[in-house]
Amino acid sequence: MKRKKSIVIGLMLAFLSISLVYGHEIDKKNIKFGIKTKSFQIDYSVKKNGTLYLSNILHVNGLWKSPLKGERFPSIHRALGWSGNGVRYQGAIEILTKNGETAIEPIYKSHSIKQESSDVKHLIIKLEDKTYPIEVELHVRAYNSQDVFQQWTVIKNSTEEDIKVPRLDAMYWQANAKDGIYLEWYESVQAHEAERRLHEKLTYGKKSLESRNGNRHKEGPMPHLVFGFGDYPDENSVPCMLMAFTWSGSSRFSFEINSKDVLEASIGVNQLGQPTLESGKSFSTPEVVYAFSLKGKGLASRNLHRWTRKHLLPGNDRLRLVDNNSWEGCRMDVAQEDVTKMMKQSAGLGIELYVLDDGWFGNKFPRDNDKVGLGDWQVNKKKIPNGIGYLVKRAKKLGIDFGLWFEPEMVSPKSELAEKHPEWLMTLPGKKTSLQRDQLTLDIANPEVQKFMFNSVNKVLINNPGIRFVKWDANANINNTYSPYLGASRQGNMLNEYMAGYYGVIDSLVKNHPNVDFQACASGGGRSDYGALRYSHTHWLSDNTRPTHRLGAQWNFSVFMPAIATTTHVTHAANKGDHFKPKYRFDVSMMGQLGMEVDTRKCSKEYVEASKVGIAAYKSVRDIVQHGDLYRHLSPFDSDTPSLNYVSEDKKRCLVLAYQKGEIEAPVKFVTAVSGLDPSKTYRLKEINLPEGDTQQRFVKEETVSKSGVRWMKEGIPLIFTRKFDSAALVLEEIK
Ligand code: DGJ
Repeated sequence: MKRKKSIVIGLMLAFLSISLVYGHEIDKKNIKFGIKTKSFQIDYSVKKNGTLYLSNILHVNGLWKSPLKGERFPSIHRALGWSGNGVRYQGAIEILTKNGETAIEPIYKSHSIKQESSDVKHLIIKLEDKTYPIEVELHVRAYNSQDVFQQWTVIKNSTEEDIKVPRLDAMYWQANAKDGIYLEWYESVQAHEAERRLHEKLTYGKKSLESRNGNRHKEGPMPHLVFGFGDYPDENSVPCMLMAFTWSGSSRFSFEINSKDVLEASIGVNQLGQPTLESGKSFSTPEVVYAFSLKGKGLASRNLHRWTRKHLLPGNDRLRLVDNNSWEGCRMDVAQEDVTKMMKQSAGLGIELYVLDDGWFGNKFPRDNDKVGLGDWQVNKKKIPNGIGYLVKRAKKLGIDFGLWFEPEMVSPKSELAEKHPEWLMTLPGKKTSLQRDQLTLDIANPEVQKFMFNSVNKVLINNPGIRFVKWDANANINNTYSPYLGASRQGNMLNEYMAGYYGVIDSLVKNHPNVDFQACASGGGRSDYGALRYSHTHWLSDNTRPTHRLGAQWNFSVFMPAIATTTHVTHAANKGDHFKPKYRFDVSMMGQLGMEVDTRKCSKEYVEASKVGIAAYKSVRDIVQHGDLYRHLSPFDSDTPSLNYVSEDKKRCLVLAYQKGEIEAPVKFVTAVSGLDPSKTYRLKEINLPEGDTQQRFVKEETVSKSGVRWMKEGIPLIFTRKFDSAALVLEEIK
């Protein structure tokens, strides 16, 4: 009898709790819910008036509590309640209805948590405007093992009329800024350092980091940043949060500290106009991916790298090949016999993939310079009379693979494509068309253009079976921001439609050609972001290949981008004065997917021999770099002898790379740190990449080479550099 009663009570309670969450009459006093990974939890609650509130983000064992908390969808139109001095927040959403109303006040309706796999949970919070049937959904996904969260916002217009949505932020939060919030961000610079690191303490007032290039990131902020809580973010001690926006277009990050010391921050698309949301339709933001660390960027970086490799990056199951790309060595001078010769010489060095860059296409307007030919994706019959298929076969015979360059979003005014389809070019009606690198963007919002882009690449891949690699370049911004296809009424949707078109086409290509690696490039690293990472196996980080500049750029990119997805080429750049020995160049390029960008016909004997040794050395450790965990030590910005190490997932092998930046006189004796080893394993040290003529050991000779992991990590590795721009590549291998 007693049991029966308790079952009835249990059922009633269950019913009550279901109706609390899903029913119409919600008791907003008691609604609390959250989502967590193995180390961090995010808690939400609902205020009496139905507004959603971020109550906490904290470590599950109570080791740390973040200052992030506050109303999730405040209204710019009125302050929450009246406490005598209510603060007016910017909020996360702006709308515009037909009759000119701009206020939206999302009120909590329900929430649910789906267990999507044993490791992934998905929280969906549904809200609705107080007055109109405009629904908002907040999505948060928690990836347990990698300690990573993913978040985005959806808006649905269930009114009878179309509305405009000038702003819909993917991520929005408030935080108590009393103890100091420190921002670290990265600027994409055309030539010099390629990705420049900046940092500052956020202070009273508003700061907005905006990129406005439309389709890529150039001379502006990259779409990823770091918050240090209480101090500047460092590698191993300051609590921090790393955030990356999965968007290759214009982005906006805004931060405002008000008179109450509350930070209001948000991340969203930087729209060029006011996108229309039709009646009955919904619209989703790109996602923000974020990770916390109690002690510095290092751990959060490693978690993000692991997460991107498992959940974002295509083809993570295969190692990236060592390539030689024709661009730096040959520019557009790429004739069949020369290419064949260079492929043979490259194969002799140990190269696995030859990539034919710009210059191979166009017949009426041969692509001999950057003023002509973009859009005419047919092989130039004079330069390559036997066609691309011939080169693919020649490469196969040499035992290597073949790859090809495209720039599918772009068109040269002097091209057959521009003559045939002037209506596909983005131009501002009535205004002079502005060109960048003598080219302009196609109107990718137009589905016909998307079909053309897909077919251009697809046809070449189908007609020439065996192409293993496609470099997808984008060398101009959206400069004439008008889509003829969208016309007068939907111009505000241009950016969303352009980006959906780009992502849609490359996604189909990747799916249709699962054995092909796609490389994202936009005049260098303009697309080295989490948006392009979903569709690109690797990324060309910068055309600046001067080794000392690359050290800084690669270091900065490594905070977010996993090594497997970053192409790092050895070139002849900055060759004057003989500063950079080939060993140095190869050691710098070991930080990612190593390759070369040289005309092998012009390489000296020393360079050839050093390349053979460098490539073989890289192949012996590439699985550690591409699939292992990265530990950064002293950075090239803080030290003359920066170093880092990679550790294989099973902790049996480790690669340590150390450099002398050249700003101090040699010899330099120093000890590099090493981290991430198994303390109980014993490791033996061996030095790799010592080419003929440069065989001097950098590891201090008298030292012992076999020690336990705990000792290596405690004592570090003593090195001596005997000249400027010196470097060392050292492997620690478990011995039984
Ligand atoms: C810009 C890229 O960054 C280079 O690597 C090269 O592909 C050129 N474009 C070709 O035009």
